[in-house]
Amino acid sequence: MSFDAPLSRRSMLKGGVVTAAALTFGGLSAEAARAAVDETARSGVFGFGVASGDPTAREVLLWTRVTPTPDATPGSGRGPRVRVTWEVAADEAFQTVLQKGVESTDAARDHTVKVVVRGLTPYTRYWYRFSLGGATSPVGRTQTAPDVHGETHALRLAFVSCSNWTGGFFTAYRGIAARDDLDMVLHLGDYLYEYGNDEDRYGPAALAGVRDHEPAVEMLSLSDYRVRHALYKTDPDLQATHLRHPWIVIFDDHEITNDAYATGAENHETQDDPDTDYTAPGQAAGIRPEGDFLARRARAFQAYLEWMPIREPGTWQRERHEGTQFFRRFTFGDLAELSVIETRQNRSQQVPATVAGAVNPALADPARHLPEPAQLDWLTRGITSSRAAWHLVGNQTVLTRVYAVPRAGVLGGQVFNTDQWDGYQADQRRLLDAMATARGADPVVLTGDIHSSWANDLPRDTTRYPADGNSVGVEFVCPSITSNGFKESLGSAAAAQAATAAFRTVNPWVRYLEGVGHGFVVLDVTPERVQADYWFIRSNGDKGLLVDPRLDPQATVGHEASFVTRRGSRKVSGPVPQLGPRADQPRAADARRAHGVGAR
Ligand SMILES: [Fe+2]
Repeated sequence: MSFDAPLSRRSMLKGGVVTAAALTFGGLSAEAARAAVDETARSGVFGFGVASGDPTAREVLLWTRVTPTPDATPGSGRGPRVRVTWEVAADEAFQTVLQKGVESTDAARDHTVKVVVRGLTPYTRYWYRFSLGGATSPVGRTQTAPDVHGETHALRLAFVSCSNWTGGFFTAYRGIAARDDLDMVLHLGDYLYEYGNDEDRYGPAALAGVRDHEPAVEMLSLSDYRVRHALYKTDPDLQATHLRHPWIVIFDDHEITNDAYATGAENHETQDDPDTDYTAPGQAAGIRPEGDFLARRARAFQAYLEWMPIREPGTWQRERHEGTQFFRRFTFGDLAELSVIETRQNRSQQVPATVAGAVNPALADPARHLPEPAQLDWLTRGITSSRAAWHLVGNQTVLTRVYAVPRAGVLGGQVFNTDQWDGYQADQRRLLDAMATARGADPVVLTGDIHSSWANDLPRDTTRYPADGNSVGVEFVCPSITSNGFKESLGSAAAAQAATAAFRTVNPWVRYLEGVGHGFVVLDVTPERVQADYWFIRSNGDKGLLVDPRLDPQATVGHEASFVTRRGSRKVSGPVPQLGPRADQPRAADARRAHGVGAR
């Protein structure tokens, strides 16, 4: 999206803009980052930690990565086939092992391991670990979904997006890992970024040489994608967050490359660009022909599926779809459902907001799509047929209409960013219309991507806002974990505050907008209301007005603001006081229900 890249690779490299700092630190960075991955691989069989994901009432997926021999480093393609033992226990000390099994892995899947554990009890906490030879993994904690037929339980999750390694320390993850009141973590995309450390470095210059990407260049090969995933999982705060909570994950563009669409991406260089001499001296480090986009995307998907705690597509919830089905739905009793959508694989290419001095008519072309039509059908059916109190949508890019702030060169009615739903207005309309006809659940959209904190009403017709009945749901948008937001893009906190104030004036359905802080949102769902607490990282109490808290490895997290939507209102209210304790607690596993050795 708009903030979500260093300068466009094309414009930057062709313009010859290369900073001295980036060049100076370039060489050093690669070695430091490579050392981090190698050291973690050597630090033990289970150096990349453990994770769990996709929790349902009775199942949860467990994940780890093994380094059985010193040569079996991530992306190496080396190392033997091995059998890894997994155990699920009722207690942290593994006094009562409930299930146990064995799973094979090898270099063909980069020595990653996934197990779907079945036959669990709803809304219950479990402990798990892996072992191989004499080595045992760290003990992870996980939990089945609060999904008990006929019962209403607390539902509280943290949602996040845009965690750029070179953008800063993962303090926000540390803040989530420390919490004991969450059922799960929802990651809405940009879990990692594709950029390298030199001309295309993305993030504060002060972190060059301190927090660098591995591989040192833009990820492109399968090995590149695997090593990049491995690098991120060397981060202790990220590891702790995986170890402590089950995650539900979906990718956005940067898990592949910037502004990806069905057949290409802004940051993908095919060899057919007539303006580029790919053989010219000096081009090698920057623009390299990157080959077939779909082959690249397939490599990105392979590494993502290997390294992330997500179930294998096609193994559950099979629906009509195009390509690979990543979208899926979670249920939480009569309280809520969560539809997690995927909006990169089949989307039409982005178009400019204006063309020939007018708003671009292609924005509203019904032949252009964000999710493929089959997925949008699945989503709208889910929303309109839901009998729960709330229908949550895990979504990548902003759904509500956002007009650009008027200034020289901006047309009246020009949208801000055509990489979000505003760039696909026929699909945007279909989704808002479906929400308007939903008689059961109230829709609540959870969004990432834009590296800033928002709470939006969702007007079906912005010209009628705030007329009664016109807002068909609400949208809460989380800030980035570390990626550059308004402040970094505009150069100062004051400029960010002025810009966000101007946005709110032009778009009054945006009820809250904060463009300085980085962090996460805690979402709490009860039958009466859904509340979003915005948490920001802080350095000595400063969220970023004076310093950049992303640079401080000792930063902490603090509550910033809270908003709610009340059942039946379809609107944002607030601000309100921050959340108190959960209404109830997940159960401890019943030690009498030990199954012995379970099947896969
Ligand atoms: Fe992002």
